[in-house]
Amino acid sequence: MTSTQVAREPLLQRAKRKVERLAGPAGIFFKGFLKHPAMVGAIVPSSNRTIERVLSVVDWEECRLFVEYGPGVGTFCRPVLEKLRRDGRLIVIDTNPDFIAYLQKTIGDSRFIAVHGSAADVEEIVKAHGFDHADYVLSGLPFSNLPEGVGPAIMGATHRVLRPGGAFLVYQYTARARDLMGQFFRRIDKGFEPLNVPPCVISWGWKE
Ligand SMILES: C[S@@+](CC[C@H](N)C(=O)[O-])C[C@H]1O[C@@H](n2cnc3c(N)ncnc32)[C@H](O)[C@@H]1O
Repeated sequence: MTSTQVAREPLLQRAKRKVERLAGPAGIFFKGFLKHPAMVGAIVPSSNRTIERVLSVVDWEECRLFVEYGPGVGTFCRPVLEKLRRDGRLIVIDTNPDFIAYLQKTIGDSRFIAVHGSAADVEEIVKAHGFDHADYVLSGLPFSNLPEGVGPAIMGATHRVLRPGGAFLVYQYTARARDLMGQFFRRIDKGFEPLNVPPCVISWGWKE
C-alpha cells in the first residue's frame, strides 16, 4: 500500500460512515434490498400504521418473550421495546449479518437480543436463551421468496415454540403466508393495511 492509499483508507471509511448516517435506517434497508432483493422482499420499511395494527392484539402484561423474524433495520423493534415489560425479552433473528450488526450497534437495551440465523431454528435459539416458549412471534419474512421447504419448516417451528394462547403475527404483501399458516393454526384473524408500501395482508394465528 502506498502512503497515499494509507492516508486515503480512513478517509473513505469515514465518508462511507457519513453517507450511512445521512441515509439513516431507510438507506441501510435499501442497501440490504439491493444486495439481497428476494430475501429482503421490500424496498422501504413498514409504515407506522402497519406496526400499530400488527401489534394491536398483544397482551403486553402477559408477554415475557417476544420473538421477531426478519427485523431488517429494526422498524418494529423500537415500538415493541417501548411496550414490552421491564423484565421482558425481545429476541430478533435475521439471516442478513449487516442488519444484525446494525441493530446491535444502534439498539442499546438490555432486553434486546439480536441473533444472526434463520427463523427455522427458532426453537434452538429460544432454548439457548433460557426460555421454553415464546409468548408472541412476529414475522416480516418474504414467505413467497423463501427457498423450497423453508416456509413450512418456519411455520411448524413457530407453532411448536408458541405457548398456548400465544400468537404468530404476520404481515406480508401476498396471501402466501396465510395459506401456509392455515396448515398449522386453526384460528386465524385477518386484516389488510393499505397505508404501507406496498399495501400488506396481516394474519394473526392463535395457538390453541
Ligand atoms: C421485508 S424485510 C423485513 C422488514 C422489516 N421487518 C420492516 O418491518 O421494515 C424481510 C427480512 O427478512 C430477513 N430474512 C429472510 N429470510 C429469513 C430467514 N429464513 N430467517 C430470518 N430472517 C430472514 C431478511 O434479511 C429481511 O431483513
